[in-house]
Amino acid sequence: MTFEIRWERDDYSRIPFHLYHDEEVYALEMERIFRGPCWSYLCLEAEIPNPGDYRTTWVGDTPVVVSRATAEAGGAIHAFVNRCAHRGAQIVRKTHGNAAEHVCIYHRWCYRTDGELIGIPFRRGLKGEGGMPKDFDMAAASPQRLKVANVSGMLFGTFSDDAEPIEDYLGEFGTGMVRRFFHKPIRILGYSRQLIRGNWKLYAENLRDTYHASLLHEFFVTYGVDRATQKGGVKMDARHRHNMNHAYTATDTQADAQAAYAGTAGVKLDRMRLTDTKLLQHTPEFADRMNLAAPTFFPNALLIQINHSLGTRQIRPKGVDAVEVFQTLFGFADDTEEQTRHRLISANLVGPAGFVSMEDGEAIEIIQKATRNERQATNIIEMGGRGAISDLAHRVTETPVRGFWSYWSELMGVEAPGGVR
Ligand SMILES: [Fe+2]
Repeated sequence: MTFEIRWERDDYSRIPFHLYHDEEVYALEMERIFRGPCWSYLCLEAEIPNPGDYRTTWVGDTPVVVSRATAEAGGAIHAFVNRCAHRGAQIVRKTHGNAAEHVCIYHRWCYRTDGELIGIPFRRGLKGEGGMPKDFDMAAASPQRLKVANVSGMLFGTFSDDAEPIEDYLGEFGTGMVRRFFHKPIRILGYSRQLIRGNWKLYAENLRDTYHASLLHEFFVTYGVDRATQKGGVKMDARHRHNMNHAYTATDTQADAQAAYAGTAGVKLDRMRLTDTKLLQHTPEFADRMNLAAPTFFPNALLIQINHSLGTRQIRPKGVDAVEVFQTLFGFADDTEEQTRHRLISANLVGPAGFVSMEDGEAIEIIQKATRNERQATNIIEMGGRGAISDLAHRVTETPVRGFWSYWSELMGVEAPGGVR
């Protein structure tokens, strides 16, 4: 299938709303992006430390098993499509566990930890009757495998032989960011899932939009966790597909902020008061001293530090008008009990009922509702400037959103003629 976009501007500062609603565009995204030459985040190595450990995950809307092979099978990490070769049922239905082999419940077809089909009940029939044809090729029927890459304990997978090596795909920028978060062994603290009734790209944009942070999120602006008056900005890789929003707490004053937001309708810095301020306590724990760092990796991953809350988020498209955000919270293996408790308190900021993340879900849902069946109109993405896409050492920008769209367009084969990259 081919489709065309009549771009109003060649710098991706006008995105047609129908791209968040078209079923055909969604189907092509699954093919050209999620099954195309991209690396998708799968899970963390720390979640499958032992031989036989597995986790179920998603690449786009394709279900995937990530598993560490048993010792006899070599102990390597594998990923394969979580769909029985026989009739298409999910093979593994649990979120995680440990198993020497995986068995589909429907007709008990059996798979090795690397995904290879190794057993079919009644394959040779019974008393000389029935069974599978003699020439049935078990290896050829096995579920599709993904190539897996391990970057400092963060596992990525791709379906495509055309994907660049992961180091090139993430670039120095991306691998540096992963190393920053995983500079020492981690400990998994828990999970959350947030179902948002909106297109997955609206969430990808939200992560690249530092401009909204202190306007939508009253908690951020009131308590100076993340606001436009602080030092910070956006940084991208050379291709502008990945981005990092970042901020440094205590680099502005309450008076700076009061003055800057004075004319902004609906923003009040003194409406809320916290009786317990533990949530706000922050002691820099990374060498760069950032209190907010949110590197996002095209197409489906985010690493996020908000004060002492650390996590990964995986974007799971669930059809054209729904996305699940799956979050894995972690701390470091050498954290004290007190530090772990502090990270868990900080986790109140994120997840489906988080003081901050809840609002992102709502913002996305009201876009999805208000733009349905809109064939002509576009949005406006000009905050931070038009034209070239570049890093900026301030927070009043949404330029990385244009970076996302320029790479999306390249993969989808619909770049604006002479468009910026
Ligand atoms: Fe947000």
